Amino acid sequence: MKKYVGLLSAAGIAGLVSVGSAHAEGQVEVLHWWTSGGEAKAVGELKSAFEAEGGVWIDSPIAGGGGDAAMTALRARVVAGNPPTAVQLKGPGIQEWADQGALNDVQDVASAENWDAVLPPVLAAIMKYDGKYVAAPVNIHRVDWLWGNPQALKTAGIEAMPTTWDEFNAAADKLLAAGIIPLAHGGQPWQDATLFEDVVLGVGGADFYRKALVELDQAALTSDTMVKSFDQLRKLRGYLDPNFSGRDWNLATAMVMRGEAAFQIMGDWAKGEFLAAGKVPGTDFLCAPTPGDGYVLNSDSFTFFKVKGDENLKGQQVLARLIMSPGFQETFNLAKGSIPARTDVLLDKFDDCAKRSHEDLLAAIKDNTLVPSMAHEMAIPRSVRGEFLDLVTQFFNSDMSSEEAATKLADAVLRAQ
Ligand code: GAL
Repeated sequence: MKKYVGLLSAAGIAGLVSVGSAHAEGQVEVLHWWTSGGEAKAVGELKSAFEAEGGVWIDSPIAGGGGDAAMTALRARVVAGNPPTAVQLKGPGIQEWADQGALNDVQDVASAENWDAVLPPVLAAIMKYDGKYVAAPVNIHRVDWLWGNPQALKTAGIEAMPTTWDEFNAAADKLLAAGIIPLAHGGQPWQDATLFEDVVLGVGGADFYRKALVELDQAALTSDTMVKSFDQLRKLRGYLDPNFSGRDWNLATAMVMRGEAAFQIMGDWAKGEFLAAGKVPGTDFLCAPTPGDGYVLNSDSFTFFKVKGDENLKGQQVLARLIMSPGFQETFNLAKGSIPARTDVLLDKFDDCAKRSHEDLLAAIKDNTLVPSMAHEMAIPRSVRGEFLDLVTQFFNSDMSSEEAATKLADAVLRAQ
C-alpha cells in the first residue's frame, strides 16, 4: 500500500483518502433494545436502509423488553462521557435528556422535510424541546391489544374475542376448564404494568386513566375505581400458568402461537413476533382491543446525543432523514407490528390489525380518549413510573388486598414526586 501511495500525485492521494475513509453518509452507533425476532427484523430494516445510503452502522443492542436495561446502560455511557450517536428513547425521557443538555437537535432536517406537516401534533410535541425537534419518531404502537389463538378459543367453545372484562373472565374460566392456559404472561415489572394500565383504561375509562396515571391525582389513585382495577388485575393473576415469573414477553407470545395459551395482553410489537414466525392475522391469530374505550399510545423514537466528529454528526442527520422518509416508515412498520408515525403513509400493504389501530387512533383523538402509556414511558417521569412498576409487581406476586394496593400506590407516587 505504501508503495502505491508513494507513486501517487497529491491530488491522487486526496482522492484516495476521501474514498478510503468513505463514510460518505456518516456513521452511527445505535443503542436500542430490539432483540426479539420481530424487533430484530424491524431494526434490521433501519440498518440496511442506512447502509444503502453509504453509512456505517454500529449496532449496540441491550436485550430486555420495554427498554429498562437499555436505559441503565445509556446512563452509564453518558456518565462515562461516551454516549452513543443515536438512542432509542421515548416520551418524557426525551425531555429529561434534552434538559440536561445531552441532545443535538435535528431541526434543519425537520424543517427541510416539513415534519410539522406530516406528524400528528400529539407526537410532534413529544419530539420537540424548546421548539426544536430533538427526536425522530419511527412508529405508533398501541398498547391495549388482546391477542388470541382461534383454535384454542374454539376448543373451549368461545365464539368471539371478549369485549368486556366480564366476558374475558368468563372466557378464561372456560379455558381453564378445557385445560388451556387462559393468559400467557411474563412476570417482569414492565409487563405487569402493561396489564395494569390496560385494565385501568378498561375499568375506569380514559378520563380516569388520565387522572390516575398521568396527572397522578391522589383522589383517583385511592378511589373505588382504582380498587376495582386491582380486583381485575388479581383475576388476571389467576389465569396464568405457574411458570410465568421472569418470562420474556416474546416467549409468552410463542405460547399463544402454539395454542398452549389462548390470550396475551401486549402491545402490537407482539404482532411483529407473530408475523416474523410466518403467522397470518385473522387465521393463525386474532387481535382485538382490550375491553374498554380508548387507545393507549406508545411511540418509538430516536434521539441524537452530543457526540464529536463530522462523521458522527453527519450520521445523525442522515439517520433522522431516513427514519422519517415515507418508504422507510412503511417497510419498518410492516415488520414491527406498529403503524407509521407519519400520517401521509398509505396503509394498503398493512393488515387488518394495523388498519383497526389507525381507525381507533383517529376516533380516540376525536373523542379525547387517547392516553399515553405509563408502562412504556410516554406519560410520567421514570422515577414515578418506577413506583408504579414496583407496587404493581408487588401486588401481583403477593396476596396484598386491592384496597391496600391503592393506598400504597398513592403514597409511593406522592413520595416520588
Ligand atoms: C416497548 C417498545 C416496543 C417494543 C417493546 C418490547 O417499550 O416501545 O418497540 O419493543 O417495548 O420490547
